[in-house]
Parts: sequence; structure tokens; C-alpha cells
Amino acid sequence: MVHATSSLLLLLLSLALLAPGHSARKCMLTGKWTNDLGSNMTIGAVNNRGEFSGTYHTAVTSTSNDIKLSPLYGTQNNINKKTQPTFGFTVNWKFSESTTVFTGQCFIDRGGKEVLKTMWLLRSSVDDIDDDWKATRVGNNVFTRLRSVKE
Ligand code: BTN
Repeated sequence: MVHATSSLLLLLLSLALLAPGHSARKCMLTGKWTNDLGSNMTIGAVNNRGEFSGTYHTAVTSTSNDIKLSPLYGTQNNINKKTQPTFGFTVNWKFSESTTVFTGQCFIDRGGKEVLKTMWLLRSSVDDIDDDWKATRVGNNVFTRLRSVKE
């Protein structure tokens, strides 16, 4: 009887962990990521205030300039120590006068894979205030972990 009860409890616990919105593993931002455009980024350690930095290599540009590796700075929300935290970061492009801000959430998908679902605003520089209306693009990117060939 005791055995049957503990097995049932174990089953219920497993079902609760598998339920949508629940994942036992924590989604971690640190590491190498690639997105649906073929851009790659590397995120360093997230400190105890949730701050992180890294580098971004975009596969595309709205300019005719040669693409250069650019720094990113961001924060992860740690308020309730969620396993699927929200975050935001800014990329300060080193080959154009633009700035991009990304915001998103680090998910563990149904297959157990980490995925970053993001939206971004890309602000381009315009010379005339009358052109302000056309200076900001919006979009979304989905990032998955970039694994080395050895893994
Ligand atoms: C520029 O074109 O001025 C800088 C590069 C912008 C690249 C954008 S940021 C949003 C989108 N996601 C990417 O990975 N690259 C583009």
C-alpha cells in the first residue's frame, strides 16, 4: 500500500514537471548561440545581479559596411529565480552607427532543448529629424545553442 502511494506520488510529480510552463532544468544564457538568420553570439557568465556581456556576429546588415564582431551588454531577470528567465541586451554595432536592443525569454522547449525567443528593435542613424519616422525596424529572432563539432 505504502509502495503504491509513493509510486503514485512520483508519477504525479513527473506529470507536474512535464506540464506546460514547467521545466526542472534551468535555461542558461551563457554560451554560444545561432539564430534563424545565421547570426552567432557568445554570452559570458551571468553575475549575481543578472548582468552579462558578450559578442555578436551578425550575418546580415542594413548597411553596405563590412560586418565586424560587436559587443553586447545585457541583464537577466532573476527576481523569482525562474527556470525560464526573461532578459534583454543591447548590441553596440562597431561597423555602423546603429544600435539594436533585444528582449526575450530563455525557454526549455518540449524536446528539452534551450531556445531563446526574442524580439528586437534596430535603430539606424538618420541625419535629419524629419527622417526619424523611418529609422527603427522591428523583428524577431529565435536562437538555439551552437554546439562545437566535438560535442
Ligand atoms: C546594421 O545593419 O546597422 C547593424 C547590424 C544589424 C543586424 C540586425 S540586428 C537584428 C537582426 N538580427 C540579426 O541577427 N541581425 C539583424
